[in-house]
Amino acid sequence: MTKLLALTDIHMKAEGQTIIGIDPFENFKRGLRHAVEHHPDAERVILMGDLTNSGTPEEYARVAEVIADCPIPVSLMCGNHDQRDNLTAAFPDTPTDANGFVQDMFVYGSTRVLITDTQFGPPFVSYAHLGQYCDKRFDWLTDQLAQAKAANQNVALFAHHPPMKVGFAGMDQIRMRDDKRMVETLATAGVPVHFLCGHVHRTISGSWHGHGFTVFKSTCHQMPLALTNPDLSLSTEEPAAYGVILLNDEGVIAHSEDFDIAQDDVQPSADAMPDA
Ligand SMILES: [Fe+2]
Repeated sequence: MTKLLALTDIHMKAEGQTIIGIDPFENFKRGLRHAVEHHPDAERVILMGDLTNSGTPEEYARVAEVIADCPIPVSLMCGNHDQRDNLTAAFPDTPTDANGFVQDMFVYGSTRVLITDTQFGPPFVSYAHLGQYCDKRFDWLTDQLAQAKAANQNVALFAHHPPMKVGFAGMDQIRMRDDKRMVETLATAGVPVHFLCGHVHRTISGSWHGHGFTVFKSTCHQMPLALTNPDLSLSTEEPAAYGVILLNDEGVIAHSEDFDIAQDDVQPSADAMPDA
């Protein structure tokens, strides 16, 4: 079994700046430390996009400061609040595909892990929060899925923007817009896929055209369960989290850990329920 750690929607800001009173730097630092201390056996940490709030070099430098001493390899993803050129300039070792998109792949056992880049454009449009997957990226994905099919692998597909609707009137408008083409591409490939997404800032799971999906909370601010409210900026101080993903021969398991309220010193209790 392979374990991956997923931290998403870090929204790093300049020193002293907060989001609804939350310091993104401190939250990310605390979340990553908790994840690494409790899961030293993880193979990889995946930062699933919106690494920064506005994509400035200063913000990326602060992300770099936090991950500098991470003992586990770190993969970066590009979200709608990132600026791809600034991201790759700040982290020049970040793998990109042949067209410069922040896409990568790993094989762990019988699972192919795909890191995809769903940022709108090019050209880059600041604050185009909608996600997009273009011809070149679909070509890359189609090739990866064909390789997975040939090797009889499951696919864990990391995408900042969910392509599926998740029930929020506002956020569904800025999901990855090429949803129909994604469904067709997956159907043609005939490979089991589990999507692992960010963007919504809330823990959500479900199925979509036969594929599983999990959306993780932000390490910073969260989306309240106000499904019909179209406001994209609704944010709450509900506990932040990271994801713990387990890959085995049978598929993908996704856990969410609220790192500020997690209890790891629980003892048996006299009034506990009998064994279920
Ligand atoms: Fe975000």
